[in-house]
Amino acid sequence: MLIRNNNQGFVHSLNSEITSQTQYLQRRAFMQTLATGAAGAALASWAGRDALAAEAERAHLPALKGQPSKVSGAMTVEAATAYKDATSYNNYYEFGLDKGEPVRNAGTLKTRPWTVRIEGLVQKPQTLDIDSLLKLSAQEERIYRLRCVEGWSMVIPWVGYSLSELLKKVQPLSSAKYVEFVTLADKAQMPGLRSGVLDWPYTEGLRLDEAMHPLTLLAFGMYGEVLPNQNGAPVRLVVPWKYGFKSAKSLVAIRLTDKEPGTAWNKAARNEYGFYSNVNPEVDHPRWSQATERRIGEGGLFAKKRKTLMFNGYGDQVAQLYAGMDLKKFY
Ligand code: MTE
Repeated sequence: MLIRNNNQGFVHSLNSEITSQTQYLQRRAFMQTLATGAAGAALASWAGRDALAAEAERAHLPALKGQPSKVSGAMTVEAATAYKDATSYNNYYEFGLDKGEPVRNAGTLKTRPWTVRIEGLVQKPQTLDIDSLLKLSAQEERIYRLRCVEGWSMVIPWVGYSLSELLKKVQPLSSAKYVEFVTLADKAQMPGLRSGVLDWPYTEGLRLDEAMHPLTLLAFGMYGEVLPNQNGAPVRLVVPWKYGFKSAKSLVAIRLTDKEPGTAWNKAARNEYGFYSNVNPEVDHPRWSQATERRIGEGGLFAKKRKTLMFNGYGDQVAQLYAGMDLKKFY
């Protein structure tokens, strides 16, 4: 399967013998024929249901009609991870600590109505409902690797737009240096909050220039459809050159600050999870090596591991953000 990037004129080869990818494209074509464009389409959760029944219920993204408008930034040429794997092997501690729990438990997450506050050191603070946020800029499809700090990775076709599009609209003040991301913490919807493993709400942070980098994606969908709850519906962050935990799910606030914000994992284990958390095969986690990774879907536990790439393979785009910094110190 070939996908042409009309903007930049280069072609990405996707491995068409991977059924997941074929199914994904067929499903997308099918969904496009059904597209009504109704922004408020009911988003039925498919958690725990039979895959075929769920197929009919899963909602497409209203803004994604036909081919994505453009594809910017780095796209990987690797085959996408099977949809089933990407949506049933998750880290979303608010819905349980085991990888299989979010898909079973996240059906309780209510993703509409939903608002996101953009606040702090900005000229124009705003509270946007999810449909206004979705329509704020053209949706693009971007195939990014996601490398989890635990040593596994996936390749996912995300749908969204650069976070910079939103940040430009609210006009950061010159004093703004960092961005804090706050996610939903509602005991009534999230059984995992009973666990004291993290200091809720789950928060994350980026330096302002990282947040403004075009690769940093505000994602509303994956595989051409709205995000399943367990993947961070209705809106999440995807920062492809950093370990997966930086990609905060189910955002409720984006706050610009002048000080480096605390992050959930840094607060939980300061010596294990730094603020930057750039994918770096040369900096081991204190308890394990980060030199290799297991690609989910590739032959189970006995598959040959892949070498982890510096900045998860996005170094050409992002290395200059860290020029002159000691990345062993700022891990
Ligand atoms: N966001 C919230 N709110 N809660 C979480 O537990 N887990 C993080 C990140 N975002 C997490 C979160 C981790 S550790 C990873 S690896 C990615 O989400 C996993 O994203 P995925 O399930 O879509 O693969």
